[in-house]
Amino acid sequence: MIQKILDGDLKQSSSPPKCGPKSYKNSPQFNRTKRRRVGAKAGSSTTQVSGTSKAGVRSAARKANTKPRSKKSRSKNVHISLEEEIEALGDLSAYKTASNLLGQEGKEGATYNVNSSLTGKCYAMKTFRTTKSGAKIAKEAQFQMDAASLNVSPRVLAHSGSGKNKYILMDKLEYRLTDLARSKEQNMALTRAQQEGVIDCAEKLDSLGILHNDGNALNLMVDEDGKVFYIDFGFSKRIDKKLLKKYGPNVNGCLTISMLVRSLRHHGISAPLLKAYVDSCKAAAKS
Ligand SMILES: Nc1ncnc2c1ncn2[C@@H]1O[C@H](COP(=O)(O)OP(=O)(O)OP(=O)(O)O)[C@@H](O)[C@H]1O
Ligand SMILES: [Mg+2]
Repeated sequence: MIQKILDGDLKQSSSPPKCGPKSYKNSPQFNRTKRRRVGAKAGSSTTQVSGTSKAGVRSAARKANTKPRSKKSRSKNVHISLEEEIEALGDLSAYKTASNLLGQEGKEGATYNVNSSLTGKCYAMKTFRTTKSGAKIAKEAQFQMDAASLNVSPRVLAHSGSGKNKYILMDKLEYRLTDLARSKEQNMALTRAQQEGVIDCAEKLDSLGILHNDGNALNLMVDEDGKVFYIDFGFSKRIDKKLLKKYGPNVNGCLTISMLVRSLRHHGISAPLLKAYVDSCKAAAKS
């Protein structure tokens, strides 16, 4: 269906989101880890420290008053296992400070920046009120992990639905799509590539059988390469036969993107390709 609307290829990067380059080669944590790893087998899950920026996104971000990363030294081809990285982060509740706050504090909790002194990478820790059910947090984390398998959402490193700190720890993304849209370059509109990114992610979610179901424009984020990601799977559902019967194969087009178009309009941001996509998904559902 997307082919009927788009006349070009979808340009989505397949690389995972990267964040927070900091020089760490001489840090005690780095040396300790390096020593520990001599002669040890490589771990199954690893975090690679590398990456490049794209001038366009950086420029739009600058105009949007966000803070793009510096191009300082990056250590290439150094593999740190996920376990080592998480261990080095220490007590995660220590990152719950006002200066680490990302976005706005919501009713359910807040999201904080978590900076690794081992690799220099930044992560986002979404926290929940202590009374939130552990099962709901696990469900949200699972939806996000499934979505991350197709690079639709940031990778989940760890999550916890018990104890005093209930959280989902994930890769941090650089920009909110709404902030980029407000930049001088974009002039209150999404670019064609951004809209294609939103549709591509929705179709990947359809293929995974996941309805995102929270079409708030603030749930769209962009990495430093300009790739669009969906965050916040708190309202997500499995796509069952009933939804498929009612909406056809593009359930996220009919529901999630339809909500996104309204939310973007509410922010004064135009996205004509998304609007056309929703119309074609709804027409296909009726036929
Ligand atoms: N991976 C991330 N990288 C950077 N910032 C993030 C990330 N995840 C969340 N944020 C920031 O935190 C804000 C809130 O996150 P999120 O949308 O997941 O929570 P919420 O809307 O408060 O939660 P819920 O709707 O489940 O109660 C986002 O709008 C964004 O600014
Ligand atoms: Mg949200």
